[in-house]
Amino acid sequence: MMDTAFTRRFDLTAPVALAPMAGVSGGALAAAVTHAGGLGLIGGGYGDRAWLERELAAAGNAAVGVGFITWSLAKQAALLDLALERKPRAIFLSFGDLAPFAPKVARAGVPLIAQVQSVVDARAAVDQGAAVVVAQGSEAGGHGAARATLPLVPAAVDALPGTPVLAAGGIADGRGLAAALALGAAGAVCGTAFVAAEESLASAAVKQAVVAGSGDATTRGRAFDIVRGLDWPTPFTIRTLENDFTRRWGPALEELARFRDVQAAAYRVAQAAGDTRTAAVIVGEAVDLVREIAPAAEIVGRMTRIAEGTIRQLRDVVR
Ligand SMILES: Cc1cc2nc3c(=O)[nH]c(=O)nc-3n(C[C@H](O)[C@H](O)[C@H](O)COP(=O)(O)O)c2cc1C
Repeated sequence: MMDTAFTRRFDLTAPVALAPMAGVSGGALAAAVTHAGGLGLIGGGYGDRAWLERELAAAGNAAVGVGFITWSLAKQAALLDLALERKPRAIFLSFGDLAPFAPKVARAGVPLIAQVQSVVDARAAVDQGAAVVVAQGSEAGGHGAARATLPLVPAAVDALPGTPVLAAGGIADGRGLAAALALGAAGAVCGTAFVAAEESLASAAVKQAVVAGSGDATTRGRAFDIVRGLDWPTPFTIRTLENDFTRRWGPALEELARFRDVQAAAYRVAQAAGDTRTAAVIVGEAVDLVREIAPAAEIVGRMTRIAEGTIRQLRDVVR
């Protein structure tokens, strides 16, 4: 059992939140993380109402939260009402302006967790009503920006006295969790660590690619967003494993945009077939640390156990 401002705020035994990963963090995975003592978050992603209803139901009565991609939520704000009706444990917003949504979340009495990529945005998030701020470094899987986790987290901690800060980006085992706590974070938000969890909605092909993947071979770029027709604003790019698609199109974005229709059709076929030479395997640099498909409870348990052991061992370093 670990005790931080985050575990106390949400009544947890593990200072770990499941990242609300689009297409990966469904109700079963979120519930499993919550049952293991962490905070499970369903990934509302780009907003599919039927999907969200199904996954909220799949979480049963586990106390899970819901995450949204803020610029996408702005196009279908009713999804926030749907989530709030289910009395979520938290609403988690990333990648965009909180201002249109924060008052409604506050009126519902639900804690707002905001994921940011800079100290300026961390301060703005608290001004707009975030109860918890996630400082996300560029090592992260999925979308993110430029700053690295190691210097960003303590800078955000210093800038936000009294607000719990969680670290995200590159944390996939107990050593990383201990490091996040050493930086002053009250816990970690982990995505990559759970992509290959048994309960994850990722395909079998993606899980296999994750287990075999190396942090030496991830890349950040825009090619997958262009081919998927997702209009991501700057400065956000997506970190994935490198594959034939990123090697061919990463350096040729204008050409990809010109031939988008043809490439999009081919991309959809590859995705449906589980062909990870073309389809995106969305993970971060910490993918080296994911070596098996395991139940989420085991991942949370091992992470907290090793973090506790690491913290005890570090005491021996001081003479
Ligand atoms: C497969 C995948 C999908 C993701 N999708 C989302 C998303 O829909 N919304 C979001 O806020 N963050 C998303 N993220 C980013 C996470 O919120 C988080 O910042 C990241 O996973 C932390 O870094 P890590 O992957 O090294 O643990 C995603 C990450 C991954 C790996």
